[in-house]
Amino acid sequence: MQLTPEEHAILKGKSGPAAQKALQILETLGRIYGAERMIPVSSVQISGVSYANLGDAGLEWLSEMAEGGGQACVFTTLNPAGMDIENYLQLGISEEFAVNQRRVLDAFQKMGVVTTCSCTPYLFGNLPRFGEQIAWAESSAVCYANAVLGARTNREGGPSALAAALTGRTPAYGYHLDENRLPTLHVRVEADIKNTPDFGALGKAIGDRIQTSSTGRVPYITGIDSASLEHLKSFCASIATFGGVALFHMPGVTPEAGSHSRPVEELALTQVDLDQAKTALTTASPDEIDFVSLGCPHLSLREIQRVATLLDGKRVTKEFWITTSRPVKGMADRMGYTAIIEAAGARFATDTCCVVAPIEGRFTAMATDSAKACYYAATKNKFKTSLLPFDDVVREATQ
Ligand code: F3S
Repeated sequence: MQLTPEEHAILKGKSGPAAQKALQILETLGRIYGAERMIPVSSVQISGVSYANLGDAGLEWLSEMAEGGGQACVFTTLNPAGMDIENYLQLGISEEFAVNQRRVLDAFQKMGVVTTCSCTPYLFGNLPRFGEQIAWAESSAVCYANAVLGARTNREGGPSALAAALTGRTPAYGYHLDENRLPTLHVRVEADIKNTPDFGALGKAIGDRIQTSSTGRVPYITGIDSASLEHLKSFCASIATFGGVALFHMPGVTPEAGSHSRPVEELALTQVDLDQAKTALTTASPDEIDFVSLGCPHLSLREIQRVATLLDGKRVTKEFWITTSRPVKGMADRMGYTAIIEAAGARFATDTCCVVAPIEGRFTAMATDSAKACYYAATKNKFKTSLLPFDDVVREATQ
């Protein structure tokens, strides 16, 4: 791997121990994946923020990087933390957890990382342009950045994303290079895809097939004529979760699709496949649901507006979490949506989500519109799940 004189100097410690460690991580990654050089990145999104996932070892490493003079040299935002930074007690998060979670956030802040704590950074200012080289972690956001925005990133882990932030670089391999962005499998969708659980189930149906297939992981998906931002964030979260997909092309929807031809190898997905995926994500009976959650990925303002409309004048009968970012919550406050939602008894779980918060085993069954949330609720938090359309999730909370 060819390094510049500047990069050699950083490796020798010219910019301090944190930058030195960061470049060591990136150089090792580059060698493993056969990169020829580093490239500059203009935006970073870091995952691995919840103390529930990091533990003491992760916190110690972050503190060392902060003490070692680590400073983000490009715009860098953070994935959800393990708790709402302001409202954690009402959500049942202990003070002991909160102390450690704050230490994590303090370390990031000391390094100049913007502590946004959201998996949808593209909704509030970390919005890369087409073709921009970036280094993002968080699989749903990576897929959204590559496919929907046309930016270029690999699926970074927490440490490599932080390393990119502290050096402004990443090794040039994978989805940074034209040749790895070519579609490899034509997925022909012959099903009615109209709402977020449909898009989530489609992501699972494709993801499951791709995981078991020997063919490539850049699907070229036809049969979808239009998709909203909310549909696409749901689809990206799901196809990344179930298939490890970091990039897809969708003619008429995603910006790079028109530059590629349709691959010869084809996979057809029918309504039966879609219905099977939905059925597999619903394991709870309606009378078991004691937890309702919307916001995986984090809700947009438009979705919060919809929740407010549906909850206006009603009362919830179950624990109901609305998960979103602090900036979007701020707009919801200003628009009066928060007041309506909280008057109904639902709770905002800002900065966090139902997966990274330490709530394992606290509920029996969760209703949601997110295929990704169903997967992690079952595997990580041991909840049964019910995948429902968005409006039905809100109704479930009031029944
Ligand atoms: Fe975001 Fe948490 Fe879902 S990080 S994509 S809301 S699992």
